[in-house]
Amino acid sequence: RTPVTISKLKSMHRNGEPITMITAHDFPSAHVADAAGVDVILVGDSLAMVALGMEDTSEVVLEEMLLHCRSVARATKAAFTIGDLPMGSYEIAPAQALETAIRFKKEGRMQGVKLEGGKEMVSTIEKIVSVGIPVLGHVGLTPQRRDILGGFRVQGKTAATATKILEDALALQAAGCFALVIEAVPAEVAVLITQKLSIPTIGIGAGNGCSGQVLVQVDMTGNFPPGRRIPKFVKQYGNVWSESFRAIETYRDEVRNRQYPAPEHTYEMPQKELERFIE
Ligand code: KIV
Ligand code: NA
Repeated sequence: RTPVTISKLKSMHRNGEPITMITAHDFPSAHVADAAGVDVILVGDSLAMVALGMEDTSEVVLEEMLLHCRSVARATKAAFTIGDLPMGSYEIAPAQALETAIRFKKEGRMQGVKLEGGKEMVSTIEKIVSVGIPVLGHVGLTPQRRDILGGFRVQGKTAATATKILEDALALQAAGCFALVIEAVPAEVAVLITQKLSIPTIGIGAGNGCSGQVLVQVDMTGNFPPGRRIPKFVKQYGNVWSESFRAIETYRDEVRNRQYPAPEHTYEMPQKELERFIE
């Protein structure tokens, strides 16, 4: 597979080909996503929850993100890679954001970065893009701002809030974002934004009218214990947790009843050496 570039993503968008994106947070999760042929791999700060067991994305720090980015980069041969700037690493000033974005490139080995927010991020995005680092925007439900949004809830359900998201999207495009993630908004809002923009929109919980889709890998592969609540927009395409569980449980039983290791898993000594050895 030839590596996915920004110009490849642009031409896909021009031709109306949906862009496929998924998160990864380590070598194996990136390896499988890249082998399966997705266009873009995002090292999302959702790894705070799905890989580190934290309560909230706002807990993960820059150094932790960079460690995960490096492991993803090592496994990714063809997909375009994007690292999510964690809360606290980019909001203070454009210069801080640029320094962080450069660390994502140099230490995280990512090709682009993602950051959350609307109009207020314009000068920050311009700064990062000015040195040649692609920026993916993120509007609608922005999890780093969960507390001020009043929880993980659908955004843009009123004409006024939908208009605000559209204005933010236009501002992010003008600032130089190569694409935008639109999270948890009514499908109609995402469709209108997609029509008004000339850059691709990547939806998550934003209906079927965006230029592409993104999901958190652990959610969509079902790599979590039964009973965990997942958002309405997630389709669970697999059940990795139950497959791992079954394998580990069987191993445990086979060790306990001495079925494992069997002869085919066992090394032997040449007969002559064995005789000498036991003498
Ligand atoms: O952190 C994340 O995984 C994300 C995607 C869901 C867009 O931001
Ligand atoms: Na994120």
